[in-house]
Amino acid sequence: MARLLFAILASVIALDLVLAFPSYASLAGLSARELDEIIPTLERRVIKSPPGPLKNTSAVLVNDHLHPWRPAGKDDIRGPCPGLNALASHGWLPRNGIASPSQIITAVQEGFNMGNDLALVVTYAAHLVDGNLLTDLLSIGGKTPKTGPDPPKPAIVGGLNTHAVFEGDTSMTRGDAFFGDNHSFNETLFDQFVDFSNKFGGGFYNVTVAQELRFQRIQQSIATNPQFSFISPRYFTAFAESIFPLAFFIDGRHETPFQLDMTVARGFFQDGRMPDGFFRSNISWTLDKIGPGLDVVFSKHPIEPGANNGTVNSYTLDPNSADLSNFCKLYTDFVNITVRGLYPNAKGTLLAALNKNLEFFFEGVKDQGCEQVPPFV
Ligand code: HEM
Repeated sequence: MARLLFAILASVIALDLVLAFPSYASLAGLSARELDEIIPTLERRVIKSPPGPLKNTSAVLVNDHLHPWRPAGKDDIRGPCPGLNALASHGWLPRNGIASPSQIITAVQEGFNMGNDLALVVTYAAHLVDGNLLTDLLSIGGKTPKTGPDPPKPAIVGGLNTHAVFEGDTSMTRGDAFFGDNHSFNETLFDQFVDFSNKFGGGFYNVTVAQELRFQRIQQSIATNPQFSFISPRYFTAFAESIFPLAFFIDGRHETPFQLDMTVARGFFQDGRMPDGFFRSNISWTLDKIGPGLDVVFSKHPIEPGANNGTVNSYTLDPNSADLSNFCKLYTDFVNITVRGLYPNAKGTLLAALNKNLEFFFEGVKDQGCEQVPPFV
């Protein structure tokens, strides 16, 4: 009798998981049994090829009457990325924060003038690990379903908040996941952003501030986060995100050298808000344009990939991680280790969707001379 009751309870819980499974939740890391139960409930969408580069890459008014800022509603999702938060809060992305990779690529190109190859690499890397490959949807942050098993699996519902596959430690304005919140704007960290901008940039965020603040955040994580991890892909994204505010948050009509005002910075980082009358960058920021910026930030305090080993101040270099001198290893390791590890049970339609998204991801890196990893079988 007890066994029967247990069996009924187990099926109710399993059914709950299936019923509660959001269309944008990732299938990464699920067991074969979970996949068998969940996949038939999903409304699959045809996966479209991603958009190509913009024809007009000049500075254009993007905070226009069609894209006014509105605060996120109570069910709208926002996450750790101030750029995507801004695109959603201005309606360049669906305001609910759930979008397809193609929508994200269109939005980052049109809204900020991100170059096509960079947009492909970042978007598909994130979608492969944090998005739903069958419904073709990715959420720009995490959200807990109202119903479902208790507690819901954070890896399933995390979207871009999901720690350690794409999102990582040592952000400028968000705390490390170890401290409990890796995605909300953190006032103390922003105060430090302002202090560093005053000390090294005369009141502005510029390349010198980017160099010093990146190093400071790494030192802070080493000294306070026993689980601090600073290996690829986070190693690359951390240096890239130090340059992004200079590339994307500065009005494209600027005449002075790259320097970001603190009011504008707060608007983006805290509220996902573009300044009134904001023009996107007048540069199409491709991988070749943004890459030297990463090297400049790194060069001032060259710190190689590594991690703390369970205690603070135990940073140990990891010679197996890709570093800035080997971009193609970022690509191959991400596919062979990160993505492969998250989908050991992919077959049928999921395997086909996985390979299609890997193909689009490769589109972004192919001009860097990387060799394509063969499709998964
Ligand atoms: C193309 C698709 C994009 C994806 C998937 C993406 C994703 C993310 C994620 C997951 C983070 C959190 C990193 C972490 O804490 O580990 C992040 C941070 C960041 N993103 Fe994005 N992003 C994208 C585009 C953009 C754009 C277009 C901008 C600028 C307009 C931008 C600016 C930033 C900045 C400045 C940070 C650093 C925040 C901080 O350190 O406090 N991103 N992004």
